[in-house]
Amino acid sequence: MLEIRKIDKGVGAEVIGLDPGKEFDDETRRLLKAAFFENGALVFRDLDIDYDFQDKLCRMLIDDDGPPPAERRDNFFVSNKKEDGAAPYGRLLFHADMMWAEEPLKVLSLYATNVEPGSASTSVASGVSAFERLPDDLRHRVEDLHAVQASGQAYNRGGAELASPKRDQERSRVTPITLPHPRTGQPILYVSQQNTREIVELPGDKGEAVLQELFDELYAPDRVYEHEWRNGDLLVLDNLAVQHGRGEVALDGPTRTLRKVIAPIPKLKYERPVYDRT
Ligand SMILES: [Fe+2]
Repeated sequence: MLEIRKIDKGVGAEVIGLDPGKEFDDETRRLLKAAFFENGALVFRDLDIDYDFQDKLCRMLIDDDGPPPAERRDNFFVSNKKEDGAAPYGRLLFHADMMWAEEPLKVLSLYATNVEPGSASTSVASGVSAFERLPDDLRHRVEDLHAVQASGQAYNRGGAELASPKRDQERSRVTPITLPHPRTGQPILYVSQQNTREIVELPGDKGEAVLQELFDELYAPDRVYEHEWRNGDLLVLDNLAVQHGRGEVALDGPTRTLRKVIAPIPKLKYERPVYDRT
């Protein structure tokens, strides 16, 4: 029987007792999906899993129990040591992956294949619990507004430590500032430090001041779960309900290699950001 232990940060739950050697039975599926959508993030410790299991788990959470996708992404690592590692250095502001795309990812997972003590934690914050906590006056001021979500980082919101890869093309879209979660219907406060450039109805400093008020709620330290990595950890995120970020990573710092598996595979094909390693 699985044990689900809530993390006391308004986001995340630890799952204890999952046996990757067994097929998912109906009860396991039910428990994992319920915990995932209720908490926005699942944490598993001391798992020994391969790419196929990680992929199967991510897809199961969104009811895809079919065969694996034709595109096998078993060589995608966030790493400061692997030659082709993604985001090999720098700090990443809070974001949801592909928030700027019409169809952002639904599930994002990171599995620690090789991490050394002292490597940067992953920070997780919930747009659902942030919305619930918004003071009434702030909620009324923003709930009918729209935001520009763009690729790249908002460099004005960080310093020289921000990762700054090169992209061939920047992308953006406009979304409402609050969105209903497609699965649970819960409202999500859908702005992020990294991707939200401005409020459409309040351009410039006025809008930035409102965004900072929203970020203060979203990223209040008592509402951010810091995942300190150990080998064999698996972190699975509801990429619509929650955001993630990380502190600075250095090429010559402690090894930090995380296998990243997503679901579903986005239809939009885009150029991977390029990091200068010289
Ligand atoms: Fe990310």
